[in-house]
Amino acid sequence: MTAGERVGGRVEPSVDARTVTLLRERAFAAMHRAYAPYSKFKVGAALLASDGSVTEGCNVENASYPAGICAERSAVSAAVARGNRAFGAIAIATEAEEPTPPCGICRQVLEEFSPHLVVIAFTHDGREARWTLDELLPRAFTPHSLDRR
Ligand code: THU
Repeated sequence: MTAGERVGGRVEPSVDARTVTLLRERAFAAMHRAYAPYSKFKVGAALLASDGSVTEGCNVENASYPAGICAERSAVSAAVARGNRAFGAIAIATEAEEPTPPCGICRQVLEEFSPHLVVIAFTHDGREARWTLDELLPRAFTPHSLDRR
């Protein structure tokens, strides 16, 4: 895995093709398990940790709507619970026409652990979009923001 390599001062969103395929398959598998009876918008995520392990997440909605959780944050919680805190890439799968980037809250949660994360979003018909988290959440509030002067 070579996610987030720094090339000439710029972070290149590079993950090898085999890893991308694996992440896509795991994200779609998780998407099919999503619990989204209210929005009907199923989301799956597959989060690649620095040790090579992949943890899945899906959105889990609730009759009390704000109690629901997004796929990306559920993947982060599950990965942290199994001992991972550094991540190289996340794949996001939906049934939408366009690749969907993570919501603002998920960007913030991902930022806590991996500011240079590679984010790859997939559509059901095989299209994808890639970003780095730095691009999606510039000038982020980070753990360093809490440092006292
Ligand atoms: N959702 C995610 O799982 N991830 C995102 O980044 C955006 C939104 C979920 C939340 C809710 O269950 C459904 O998609 C509709 O917003």
